[in-house]
Amino acid sequence: MAGARPNFMKVKPVLDALERRGAETVLVHTGQHYDPAMSEVFFHELGLRAPDHYLGVGSGTQAETTARVMTAFEPLVERLQATTVVVVGDVNSTLACALVAAKAGPYVAHVEAGLRSGDWAMPEEVNRVVTDRLSDLLFAPSADALANLQAEGYRPDQVHLVGNVMVDTLLANLGRAQARGVLERLGVAPKGYGLVTLHRPSNVDDAPALSSLLAVLGQVARHCPLVFPVHPRTAKALAGTELPTGLRAVEPLGYLDFIALEASAAVVFTDSGGVQEETTVLGVPCVTLRDSTERPVTVSEGTNTVAGHDPERILEAAARALEGGFAPRRPALWDGHAGERIADVLVALGPGHPRPTQRPACPVQSATGPGPDGASQPGRAELR
Ligand code: UD1
Ligand code: UDP
Repeated sequence: MAGARPNFMKVKPVLDALERRGAETVLVHTGQHYDPAMSEVFFHELGLRAPDHYLGVGSGTQAETTARVMTAFEPLVERLQATTVVVVGDVNSTLACALVAAKAGPYVAHVEAGLRSGDWAMPEEVNRVVTDRLSDLLFAPSADALANLQAEGYRPDQVHLVGNVMVDTLLANLGRAQARGVLERLGVAPKGYGLVTLHRPSNVDDAPALSSLLAVLGQVARHCPLVFPVHPRTAKALAGTELPTGLRAVEPLGYLDFIALEASAAVVFTDSGGVQEETTVLGVPCVTLRDSTERPVTVSEGTNTVAGHDPERILEAAARALEGGFAPRRPALWDGHAGERIADVLVALGPGHPRPTQRPACPVQSATGPGPDGASQPGRAELR
Protein backbone atom coordinates (compact mmCIF):
# COMPACT_ATOMS: atom_id res chain seq x y z
CA MET A 1 0.00 0.00 0.00
CA ALA A 2 1.21 3.54 -0.77
CA GLY A 3 -0.51 6.90 -0.48
CA ALA A 4 1.80 9.90 -0.25
CA ARG A 5 5.13 11.09 -1.69
CA PRO A 6 7.53 9.38 0.70
CA ASN A 7 5.67 6.05 0.44
CA PHE A 8 6.55 5.48 -3.20
CA MET A 9 10.31 5.26 -2.58
CA LYS A 10 9.68 2.91 0.36
CA VAL A 11 7.34 0.52 -1.40
CA LYS A 12 9.43 0.06 -4.55
CA PRO A 13 12.29 -2.07 -3.13
CA VAL A 14 9.87 -4.26 -1.17
CA LEU A 15 7.69 -4.91 -4.23
CA ASP A 16 10.71 -5.70 -6.40
CA ALA A 17 12.18 -8.09 -3.85
CA LEU A 18 8.84 -9.88 -3.40
CA GLU A 19 8.45 -10.24 -7.15
CA ARG A 20 11.98 -11.61 -7.49
CA ARG A 21 10.91 -14.33 -5.05
CA GLY A 22 7.83 -15.15 -7.14
CA ALA A 23 5.32 -13.75 -4.62
CA GLU A 24 2.02 -12.45 -5.95
CA THR A 25 1.71 -8.73 -5.15
CA VAL A 26 -1.08 -6.16 -5.47
CA LEU A 27 -0.20 -2.45 -5.32
CA VAL A 28 -2.82 -0.14 -3.81
CA HIS A 29 -2.47 3.66 -4.07
CA THR A 30 -4.85 5.47 -1.72
CA GLY A 31 -4.61 8.79 -3.59
CA GLN A 32 -3.74 10.85 -0.46
CA HIS A 33 -1.26 12.61 -2.76
CA TYR A 34 -2.53 13.05 -6.29
CA ASP A 35 -0.86 16.01 -8.04
CA PRO A 36 1.37 14.67 -10.83
CA ALA A 37 4.40 16.21 -9.05
CA MET A 38 3.48 14.49 -5.76
CA SER A 39 2.57 11.08 -7.18
CA GLU A 40 2.77 10.17 -10.89
CA VAL A 41 6.32 11.44 -11.34
CA PHE A 42 7.58 8.87 -8.80
CA PHE A 43 5.91 5.95 -10.58
CA HIS A 44 7.50 7.07 -13.82
CA GLU A 45 10.98 7.78 -12.44
CA LEU A 46 11.24 4.79 -10.11
CA GLY A 47 9.80 2.33 -12.62
CA LEU A 48 6.99 1.54 -10.20
CA ARG A 49 4.18 -0.25 -12.01
CA ALA A 50 0.81 1.50 -12.19
CA PRO A 51 -1.22 0.78 -9.07
CA ASP A 52 -3.53 -2.22 -9.35
CA HIS A 53 -6.11 -0.25 -7.32
CA TYR A 54 -6.40 3.53 -6.94
CA LEU A 55 -8.68 4.65 -4.12
CA GLY A 56 -8.72 8.34 -5.07
CA VAL A 57 -9.31 9.66 -1.54
CA GLY A 58 -7.77 13.13 -2.08
CA SER A 59 -7.16 15.73 0.62
CA GLY A 60 -9.10 16.49 3.79
CA THR A 61 -8.72 16.92 7.52
CA GLN A 62 -6.81 14.29 9.48
CA ALA A 63 -10.00 12.36 10.19
CA GLU A 64 -11.47 12.83 6.71
CA THR A 65 -8.41 11.41 4.95
CA THR A 66 -8.11 8.52 7.40
CA ALA A 67 -11.81 7.70 7.22
CA ARG A 68 -11.96 7.88 3.43
CA VAL A 69 -9.02 5.53 3.07
CA MET A 70 -10.61 3.09 5.54
CA THR A 71 -13.98 3.11 3.80
CA ALA A 72 -12.44 2.58 0.37
CA PHE A 73 -9.88 0.01 1.52
CA GLU A 74 -12.22 -2.24 3.52
CA PRO A 75 -14.17 -3.80 0.62
CA LEU A 76 -10.94 -4.21 -1.35
CA VAL A 77 -9.27 -6.12 1.49
CA GLU A 78 -12.33 -8.36 1.75
CA ARG A 79 -12.16 -9.04 -1.99
CA LEU A 80 -8.41 -9.61 -2.24
CA GLN A 81 -8.09 -12.10 0.65
CA ALA A 82 -4.36 -11.34 0.87
CA THR A 83 -2.08 -13.20 3.26
CA THR A 84 -0.43 -9.95 4.31
CA VAL A 85 -1.06 -6.22 3.99
CA VAL A 86 2.23 -4.32 3.94
CA VAL A 87 2.08 -0.67 5.01
CA VAL A 88 5.02 1.76 4.89
CA GLY A 89 5.94 4.93 6.76
CA ASP A 90 3.78 7.07 8.99
CA VAL A 91 1.21 8.94 6.90
CA ASN A 92 -2.55 8.85 7.44
CA SER A 93 -2.94 6.24 4.67
CA THR A 94 -0.53 3.97 6.58
CA LEU A 95 -2.61 4.04 9.75
CA ALA A 96 -5.93 3.74 7.89
CA CYS A 97 -4.89 0.65 5.92
CA ALA A 98 -3.34 -1.00 8.98
CA LEU A 99 -6.51 -0.48 11.00
CA VAL A 100 -8.75 -1.97 8.31
CA ALA A 101 -6.42 -4.93 7.68
CA ALA A 102 -5.99 -5.74 11.37
CA LYS A 103 -9.74 -6.25 11.71
CA ALA A 104 -10.21 -7.96 8.34
CA GLY A 105 -7.81 -10.83 9.00
CA PRO A 106 -4.57 -10.63 6.98
CA TYR A 107 -1.24 -10.20 8.64
CA VAL A 108 -0.26 -6.55 8.94
CA ALA A 109 3.40 -5.78 8.25
CA HIS A 110 4.80 -2.31 8.99
CA VAL A 111 7.89 -1.16 7.13
CA GLU A 112 9.67 1.61 9.11
CA ALA A 113 8.39 0.45 12.50
CA GLY A 114 9.63 1.72 15.85
CA LEU A 115 10.47 5.33 14.97
CA ARG A 116 9.48 7.64 17.84
CA SER A 117 9.89 11.41 18.09
CA GLY A 118 8.21 11.52 21.51
CA ASP A 119 6.18 14.46 20.14
CA TRP A 120 2.53 13.49 20.43
CA ALA A 121 1.53 16.77 18.75
CA MET A 122 2.81 15.38 15.41
CA PRO A 123 0.08 13.51 13.51
CA GLU A 124 2.79 11.14 12.28
CA GLU A 125 3.75 10.15 15.85
CA VAL A 126 0.18 9.04 16.51
CA ASN A 127 0.24 7.13 13.22
CA ARG A 128 3.56 5.44 14.09
CA VAL A 129 2.54 4.27 17.56
CA VAL A 130 -0.90 3.02 16.52
CA THR A 131 0.27 1.37 13.29
CA ASP A 132 2.93 -0.55 15.21
CA ARG A 133 0.36 -1.68 17.76
CA LEU A 134 -1.87 -2.99 14.93
CA SER A 135 0.96 -4.83 13.18
CA ASP A 136 1.90 -8.50 13.39
CA LEU A 137 5.30 -7.91 11.79
CA LEU A 138 7.41 -4.86 12.57
CA PHE A 139 10.34 -4.03 10.29
CA ALA A 140 12.69 -1.62 12.08
CA PRO A 141 15.11 0.50 10.03
CA SER A 142 17.69 1.10 12.78
CA ALA A 143 18.90 -0.10 16.17
CA ASP A 144 17.17 2.80 17.98
CA ALA A 145 13.83 1.85 16.40
CA LEU A 146 14.36 -1.77 17.44
CA ALA A 147 15.14 -0.63 21.00
CA ASN A 148 11.92 1.43 21.09
CA LEU A 149 9.88 -1.62 20.08
CA GLN A 150 11.62 -3.82 22.64
CA ALA A 151 11.00 -1.22 25.35
CA GLU A 152 7.30 -1.14 24.39
CA GLY A 153 7.05 -4.89 24.88
CA TYR A 154 6.75 -6.26 21.35
CA ARG A 155 7.66 -9.93 21.13
CA PRO A 156 11.04 -10.81 19.57
CA ASP A 157 9.37 -12.91 16.85
CA GLN A 158 7.35 -9.88 15.67
CA VAL A 159 10.29 -7.52 15.30
CA HIS A 160 12.94 -7.60 12.57
CA LEU A 161 15.85 -5.18 12.20
CA VAL A 162 16.13 -4.93 8.40
CA GLY A 163 17.66 -1.57 7.54
CA ASN A 164 16.28 1.34 5.57
CA VAL A 165 14.25 0.92 2.38
CA MET A 166 14.57 4.65 1.57
CA VAL A 167 18.32 4.04 1.30
CA ASP A 168 17.74 1.07 -1.04
CA THR A 169 16.02 3.44 -3.46
CA LEU A 170 18.56 6.23 -3.02
CA LEU A 171 21.53 3.99 -3.77
CA ALA A 172 19.78 2.40 -6.74
CA ASN A 173 19.02 5.75 -8.39
CA LEU A 174 21.77 8.21 -7.45
CA GLY A 175 24.02 7.59 -10.47
CA ARG A 176 21.38 8.19 -13.12
CA ALA A 177 19.95 11.10 -11.10
CA GLN A 178 23.29 12.88 -11.17
CA ALA A 179 23.56 12.43 -14.95
CA ARG A 180 20.38 14.46 -15.63
CA GLY A 181 21.96 17.91 -15.30
CA VAL A 182 19.55 19.51 -12.82
CA LEU A 183 22.29 21.75 -11.36
CA GLU A 184 23.04 23.20 -14.79
CA ARG A 185 19.32 23.69 -15.46
CA LEU A 186 18.92 25.62 -12.21
CA GLY A 187 22.21 27.49 -12.71
CA VAL A 188 23.83 26.34 -9.43
CA ALA A 189 27.31 24.94 -8.83
CA PRO A 190 28.20 21.86 -6.74
CA LYS A 191 28.46 22.90 -3.05
CA GLY A 192 27.55 26.46 -4.06
CA TYR A 193 23.94 26.37 -2.84
CA GLY A 194 21.68 25.01 -0.12
CA LEU A 195 18.40 23.09 -0.42
CA VAL A 196 15.26 23.71 1.65
CA THR A 197 12.11 21.63 2.21
CA LEU A 198 9.31 22.51 4.63
CA HIS A 199 5.89 20.94 5.07
CA ARG A 200 5.21 20.15 8.74
CA PRO A 201 1.99 21.78 9.91
CA SER A 202 3.85 23.14 12.98
CA ASN A 203 6.20 25.04 10.62
CA VAL A 204 3.98 26.08 7.74
CA ASP A 205 0.40 26.32 9.05
CA ASP A 206 1.53 28.59 11.89
CA ALA A 207 2.09 32.01 10.25
CA PRO A 208 4.51 33.47 12.85
CA ALA A 209 6.58 30.24 12.86
CA LEU A 210 6.77 30.28 9.05
CA SER A 211 7.73 33.93 8.83
CA SER A 212 10.45 33.48 11.48
CA LEU A 213 11.90 30.51 9.54
CA LEU A 214 11.80 32.47 6.28
CA ALA A 215 13.67 35.34 7.95
CA VAL A 216 16.46 32.99 9.14
CA LEU A 217 16.68 31.30 5.76
CA GLY A 218 16.91 34.77 4.22
CA GLN A 219 19.98 35.47 6.40
CA VAL A 220 21.64 32.25 5.22
CA ALA A 221 20.71 33.03 1.60
CA ARG A 222 22.77 36.25 1.72
CA HIS A 223 25.88 34.02 1.71
CA CYS A 224 24.58 30.84 0.12
CA PRO A 225 21.69 30.80 -2.37
CA LEU A 226 18.90 28.41 -1.37
CA VAL A 227 16.72 26.32 -3.70
CA PHE A 228 13.29 25.69 -2.17
CA PRO A 229 11.02 23.09 -3.87
CA VAL A 230 7.68 24.04 -2.34
CA HIS A 231 5.32 21.32 -1.06
CA PRO A 232 1.63 22.02 -1.89
CA ARG A 233 0.71 22.52 1.79
CA THR A 234 3.46 25.13 2.02
CA ALA A 235 2.47 26.74 -1.29
CA LYS A 236 -0.97 27.41 0.20
CA ALA A 237 0.55 28.95 3.31
CA LEU A 238 2.94 31.09 1.25
CA ALA A 239 0.35 32.45 -1.19
CA GLY A 240 1.05 36.17 -1.67
CA THR A 241 4.23 36.12 0.50
CA GLU A 242 7.39 37.65 -0.92
CA LEU A 243 10.37 35.42 -0.19
CA PRO A 244 13.70 36.88 0.96
CA THR A 245 16.32 37.50 -1.72
CA GLY A 246 18.34 34.36 -2.44
CA LEU A 247 15.60 31.95 -1.34
CA ARG A 248 14.35 30.62 -4.64
CA ALA A 249 11.01 28.80 -4.70
CA VAL A 250 10.48 26.10 -7.35
CA GLU A 251 7.74 23.54 -7.91
CA PRO A 252 8.07 20.22 -6.03
CA LEU A 253 10.82 18.28 -7.81
CA GLY A 254 10.78 14.77 -9.16
CA TYR A 255 12.76 12.22 -7.14
CA LEU A 256 15.77 12.08 -9.46
CA ASP A 257 16.30 15.83 -9.65
CA PHE A 258 15.71 16.17 -5.93
CA ILE A 259 18.30 13.57 -4.87
CA ALA A 260 20.83 14.97 -7.36
CA LEU A 261 20.37 18.46 -5.85
CA GLU A 262 20.56 17.01 -2.35
CA ALA A 263 23.82 15.17 -3.12
CA SER A 264 25.62 18.32 -4.32
CA ALA A 265 24.18 20.80 -1.80
CA ALA A 266 26.46 22.54 0.71
CA VAL A 267 23.71 22.21 3.32
CA VAL A 268 20.07 21.08 3.51
CA PHE A 269 17.44 22.72 5.74
CA THR A 270 14.40 20.50 6.23
CA ASP A 271 11.58 19.25 8.39
CA SER A 272 11.22 16.07 6.29
CA GLY A 273 11.86 12.64 7.75
CA GLY A 274 13.22 11.01 4.61
CA VAL A 275 15.53 13.91 3.81
CA GLN A 276 17.28 13.53 7.20
CA GLU A 277 18.10 9.93 6.23
CA GLU A 278 19.17 10.67 2.65
CA THR A 279 21.55 13.48 3.70
CA THR A 280 23.25 11.13 6.19
CA VAL A 281 23.99 8.59 3.46
CA LEU A 282 25.06 11.33 1.05
CA GLY A 283 27.36 12.98 3.62
CA VAL A 284 25.57 16.31 3.22
CA PRO A 285 25.03 18.40 6.37
CA CYS A 286 21.37 18.58 7.35
CA VAL A 287 19.81 21.19 9.65
CA THR A 288 16.45 19.89 10.88
CA LEU A 289 13.98 22.67 11.55
CA ARG A 290 12.07 20.81 14.25
CA ASP A 291 12.42 20.33 18.01
CA SER A 292 12.80 16.55 17.83
CA THR A 293 13.59 13.74 15.45
CA GLU A 294 12.22 10.21 15.24
CA ARG A 295 15.44 9.33 13.39
CA PRO A 296 18.15 9.90 16.05
CA VAL A 297 20.65 7.72 14.20
CA THR A 298 20.97 10.54 11.66
CA VAL A 299 22.32 12.70 14.51
CA SER A 300 24.41 10.14 16.41
CA GLU A 301 25.93 8.52 13.33
CA GLY A 302 25.05 10.91 10.52
CA THR A 303 25.16 14.52 9.41
CA ASN A 304 21.98 15.83 11.06
CA THR A 305 21.62 18.66 13.60
CA VAL A 306 18.20 19.11 15.19
CA ALA A 307 18.17 22.90 15.39
CA GLY A 308 14.57 23.58 16.45
CA HIS A 309 13.13 27.03 15.79
CA ASP A 310 15.48 29.38 17.60
CA PRO A 311 17.07 31.63 14.92
CA GLU A 312 20.45 31.67 16.69
CA ARG A 313 20.64 27.89 16.94
CA ILE A 314 19.67 27.57 13.29
CA LEU A 315 22.32 30.07 12.20
CA GLU A 316 24.98 28.35 14.33
CA ALA A 317 24.08 24.96 12.84
CA ALA A 318 24.14 26.48 9.34
CA ALA A 319 27.59 28.00 9.92
CA ARG A 320 28.97 24.67 11.16
CA ALA A 321 27.37 22.89 8.21
CA LEU A 322 28.86 25.31 5.70
CA GLU A 323 32.34 24.68 7.10
CA GLY A 324 31.92 21.20 5.56
CA GLY A 325 34.01 18.16 6.39
CA PHE A 326 31.13 15.71 6.60
CA ALA A 327 31.62 12.20 5.23
CA PRO A 328 28.89 9.90 3.90
CA ARG A 329 27.69 7.59 6.68
CA ARG A 330 25.84 4.31 6.53
CA PRO A 331 24.21 3.27 9.81
CA ALA A 332 24.09 -0.52 10.18
CA LEU A 333 22.09 -2.22 7.40
CA TRP A 334 21.56 1.01 5.43
CA ASP A 335 23.22 -0.88 2.64
CA GLY A 336 20.68 -1.08 -0.19
CA HIS A 337 19.32 -4.51 0.79
CA ALA A 338 16.54 -3.75 3.30
CA GLY A 339 13.81 -4.70 0.78
CA GLU A 340 15.43 -8.11 0.32
CA ARG A 341 15.46 -8.77 4.07
CA ILE A 342 11.81 -7.76 4.36
CA ALA A 343 10.80 -9.99 1.45
CA ASP A 344 12.63 -12.96 3.00
CA VAL A 345 10.48 -12.65 6.12
CA LEU A 346 7.25 -12.07 4.17
CA VAL A 347 7.62 -15.00 1.76
CA ALA A 348 8.07 -17.31 4.73
CA LEU A 349 4.40 -16.51 5.55
CA GLY A 350 2.88 -17.76 2.32
CA PRO A 351 1.41 -18.82 0.02
CA GLY A 352 -0.58 -21.48 1.81
CA HIS A 353 0.21 -20.01 5.19
CA PRO A 354 -2.98 -19.90 7.26
CA ARG A 355 -4.46 -16.44 7.78
CA PRO A 356 -4.15 -15.51 11.44
CA THR A 357 -7.56 -15.92 13.05
CA GLN A 358 -5.95 -15.93 16.48
CA ARG A 359 -4.08 -12.70 17.09
CA PRO A 360 -1.03 -13.21 19.26
CA ALA A 361 -1.23 -10.99 22.31
CA CYS A 362 1.25 -8.16 22.30
CA PRO A 363 2.12 -7.20 25.84
CA VAL A 364 2.75 -3.49 25.54
CA GLN A 365 4.34 -2.97 28.92
CA SER A 366 5.08 0.70 28.83
CA ALA A 367 5.24 3.58 26.38
CA THR A 368 8.26 4.98 28.19
CA GLY A 369 11.73 4.36 26.92
CA PRO A 370 14.86 6.10 25.81
CA GLY A 371 14.28 9.23 23.75
CA PRO A 372 16.10 10.34 20.63
CA ASP A 373 18.97 11.67 22.76
CA GLY A 374 19.11 8.58 24.98
CA ALA A 375 17.42 10.36 27.91
CA SER A 376 14.33 8.78 29.42
CA GLN A 377 11.05 9.99 27.93
CA PRO A 378 7.89 11.05 29.71
CA GLY A 379 4.99 8.57 29.70
CA ARG A 380 2.11 9.01 27.27
CA ALA A 381 -0.12 10.68 29.85
CA GLU A 382 2.56 13.29 30.52
CA LEU A 383 2.99 13.99 26.79
CA ARG A 384 -0.59 15.11 26.34
C1 UD1 B 1 1.60 14.18 4.38
C2 UD1 B 1 1.89 13.35 5.62
C3 UD1 B 1 3.28 13.68 6.15
C4 UD1 B 1 4.33 13.50 5.07
C5 UD1 B 1 3.94 14.32 3.85
C6 UD1 B 1 4.91 14.04 2.76
C7 UD1 B 1 -0.01 12.81 7.10
C8 UD1 B 1 -0.62 13.12 8.41
N1 UD1 B 1 0.96 13.68 6.69
O1 UD1 B 1 1.60 15.55 4.77
O2 UD1 B 1 3.59 12.79 7.21
O3 UD1 B 1 5.56 13.92 5.56
O4 UD1 B 1 2.62 13.95 3.42
O5 UD1 B 1 4.88 14.97 1.74
O6 UD1 B 1 -0.35 11.84 6.48
N2 UD1 B 1 -2.00 18.74 -1.50
C9 UD1 B 1 -2.09 19.07 -2.84
N3 UD1 B 1 -1.77 18.08 -3.75
C10 UD1 B 1 -1.41 16.83 -3.38
C11 UD1 B 1 -1.36 16.53 -2.02
C12 UD1 B 1 -1.65 17.50 -1.09
O7 UD1 B 1 -2.39 20.19 -3.21
O8 UD1 B 1 -1.15 15.99 -4.27
C13 UD1 B 1 -2.30 19.82 -0.52
C14 UD1 B 1 -3.76 19.88 -0.12
O9 UD1 B 1 -4.10 21.21 0.06
C15 UD1 B 1 -3.77 19.16 1.22
C16 UD1 B 1 -2.39 19.54 1.78
O10 UD1 B 1 -1.54 19.59 0.66
O11 UD1 B 1 -4.81 19.59 2.05
C17 UD1 B 1 -1.87 18.57 2.80
O12 UD1 B 1 -1.86 17.23 2.27
P1 UD1 B 1 -1.88 15.99 3.30
O13 UD1 B 1 -1.69 14.73 2.54
O14 UD1 B 1 -3.07 16.06 4.20
O15 UD1 B 1 -0.66 16.25 4.25
P2 UD1 B 1 0.84 16.61 3.89
O16 UD1 B 1 1.17 17.93 4.50
O17 UD1 B 1 1.08 16.43 2.45
N1 UDP C 1 11.46 14.60 -2.45
C1 UDP C 1 11.25 14.75 -3.82
N2 UDP C 1 10.97 16.00 -4.31
C2 UDP C 1 10.89 17.11 -3.51
C3 UDP C 1 11.08 16.93 -2.10
C4 UDP C 1 11.36 15.66 -1.61
O1 UDP C 1 11.32 13.78 -4.58
O2 UDP C 1 10.65 18.22 -4.02
C5 UDP C 1 11.73 13.24 -1.93
C6 UDP C 1 12.95 13.08 -1.05
O3 UDP C 1 14.10 12.77 -1.82
C7 UDP C 1 12.56 11.91 -0.16
C8 UDP C 1 11.05 12.07 -0.02
O4 UDP C 1 10.64 12.92 -1.09
O5 UDP C 1 12.83 10.68 -0.83
C9 UDP C 1 10.69 12.69 1.30
O6 UDP C 1 9.32 12.99 1.29
P1 UDP C 1 8.67 14.13 2.17
O7 UDP C 1 9.69 15.08 2.64
O8 UDP C 1 7.52 14.66 1.40
O9 UDP C 1 8.05 13.30 3.39
P2 UDP C 1 8.62 12.79 4.79
O10 UDP C 1 9.85 12.00 4.54
O11 UDP C 1 8.83 13.99 5.65
O12 UDP C 1 7.51 11.97 5.34
